[in-house]
Amino acid sequence: MELPHAALALIVAAAATLSVAVAYDPLDPNGNITIKWDVLSWTPDGYVATVTINNFQTYRQIMAPGWTVGWTWAKREVIWSMVGAQATEQGDCSKFKANLPHSCKRTPAVVDLLPGVPYNQQIANCCRGGVVSAYGQDPSGAVSSFQVSVGQAGTTNRTVKVPKNFTLLGPGPGYTCGPAKVVPSTVFLTADHRRKTQALMTWNVTCTYSQHLASKYPTCCVSFSSFYNDTIVPCAKCACGCEHKTCARSEPDSKRLMSASGKSSAHAVTAVRGHVNRQSAAPLLQCTTHMCPVRVHWHVKLNYHDYWRAKVTVTNFNYRTNYTGWTLVAQHPNLDNITEVFSFDYKPVVSYGSINDTALFYGMKFFNDQLMEAGPYGNVQSEVLMRKDASTFTFRQGWAFPRKIYFNGDECRMPPPDSYPYLPNSAPASLVSSASVVVAFLVLLMA
Ligand SMILES: *[C@@H]1O[C@H](CO)[C@@H](O)[C@H](O)[C@H]1NC(C)=O
Ligand SMILES: *[C@@H]1O[C@H](CO)[C@@H](O)[C@H](O)[C@H]1NC(C)=O
Ligand SMILES: *[C@@H]1O[C@H](CO)[C@@H](O)[C@H](O)[C@H]1NC(C)=O
Ligand SMILES: *[C@@H]1O[C@H](CO)[C@@H](O)[C@H](O)[C@H]1NC(C)=O
Ligand SMILES: *[C@@H]1O[C@H](CO)[C@@H](O)[C@H](O)[C@H]1NC(C)=O
Ligand SMILES: *[C@@H]1O[C@H](CO)[C@@H](O)[C@H](O)[C@H]1NC(C)=O
Ligand SMILES: *[C@@H]1O[C@H](CO)[C@@H](O)[C@H](O)[C@H]1NC(C)=O
Ligand SMILES: *[C@@H]1O[C@H](CO)[C@@H](O)[C@H](O)[C@H]1NC(C)=O
Repeated sequence: MELPHAALALIVAAAATLSVAVAYDPLDPNGNITIKWDVLSWTPDGYVATVTINNFQTYRQIMAPGWTVGWTWAKREVIWSMVGAQATEQGDCSKFKANLPHSCKRTPAVVDLLPGVPYNQQIANCCRGGVVSAYGQDPSGAVSSFQVSVGQAGTTNRTVKVPKNFTLLGPGPGYTCGPAKVVPSTVFLTADHRRKTQALMTWNVTCTYSQHLASKYPTCCVSFSSFYNDTIVPCAKCACGCEHKTCARSEPDSKRLMSASGKSSAHAVTAVRGHVNRQSAAPLLQCTTHMCPVRVHWHVKLNYHDYWRAKVTVTNFNYRTNYTGWTLVAQHPNLDNITEVFSFDYKPVVSYGSINDTALFYGMKFFNDQLMEAGPYGNVQSEVLMRKDASTFTFRQGWAFPRKIYFNGDECRMPPPDSYPYLPNSAPASLVSSASVVVAFLVLLMA
């Protein structure tokens, strides 16, 4: 039998994907977030710097409740004041007599201000509650800035020590930041474009995302159906993990929490309440077999002579989150020739010309850019009309279903390959063999 070889190959491939995936996304190989510090002036005991956070990720935004940036000071620096952001803790400033610094923490954590703060606390690109758009969706919203006045620091470009150990929550874990590197000073153009000014000193930090660091389980799953087969292929059972998860059976019930097993559980209720107090974004899921906060359903709807049509529905099962500015990425060979997309905005994802089968979808402003909390309004849908390429198009062997789906930048769990709906009378021979490979793979994993 070939199986052991095939299974081994699969394991090697899977292991390679896992290790590579730590900071590498093949659909967005250059995606990162940079944090740039531009020292703009010296003060008697330090400097004033503008800090700019640029999100260069094509389809991963920073949702509410927004980013938190942290670092460790290299010396005994303090933050005298900030504009457009604030440190979450003042820390121990007892050594200061007259003026109290904004923060004396050695490892400050900084968050954006909320919209609507007084103008004298704002600077350009601040005060959006830490929400930063994905670059591919909205380049102008993919930046966030604040200004910081640092004391007890150096006052020349040789005595200033760059901060260490940068951290970024966006808003949850998942980002790893490299060391801050001094780079050539940023050059600014004045408003009338007739004069250039220059930062006194500039350093850059690059942070990359890894889904494995962000969460142990996927956060979304995919289900399939088609006009040519009655079977609806649901999300895999426990696709997003069932352990230690609480859920609510229905909307009225979302107040009265249930444990994942469906039994009312006082323990579960307190567990979830405790969680909520710490972080209001902790999900409260509607009870489903997959236990995912989000499901993406791909329905192969119509077959025309030269075109075919798929319907895509995104459903929110989280009672505690409105996904504002959501993004959906789909990879399918025929997405290289989209003719029309209804009710979603659409952009092709082209990373350096090597990818042309991937599409970024997102909601239309003021229409469906907010995926509402679980319940009757908790879904958005679209139809995509694609032109057939006669040499590749087929309904056989699940070809019409996407290869990969990402929601808000996280890859969604696909149904097992042997379950894809298939054309009546088409023996899915290759699928059967791939199914046995997968089974062998699982058996080996569990051994
Ligand atoms: C970060 O992203 C930018 C823009 O895509 C790219 O030019 C740069 O090389 C990336 N940096 C790293 C360290 O990957
Ligand atoms: C510091 O400034 C001097 C000139 O004032 C310049 O030559 C040098 O490159 C600067 N060093 C850094 C690290 O920016
Ligand atoms: C930075 O982090 C590393 C590893 O987490 C640690 O060993 C080091 O002491 C930290 N540096 C500072 C200045 O805190
Ligand atoms: C520093 O980051 C900015 C974006 O914030 C980027 O435009 C610039 O190229 C980076 N510089 C270096 C030398 O990496
Ligand atoms: C979601 O948005 C609706 C309408 O804007 C609001 O009534 C609701 O409270 C929001 N839900 C959450 C969980 O923020
Ligand atoms: C895409 O569709 C157009 C017509 O809509 C056609 O002319 C073109 O050849 C197609 N391209 C590919 C790569 O199939
Ligand atoms: C898409 O990319 C593939 C492989 O790189 C290439 O063969 C194909 O011609 C490209 N199609 C279009 C429409 O650019
Ligand atoms: C539809 O596809 C399923 C696989 O998901 C298969 O078991 C079933 O036999 C197919 N139905 C028909 C009528 O071929």
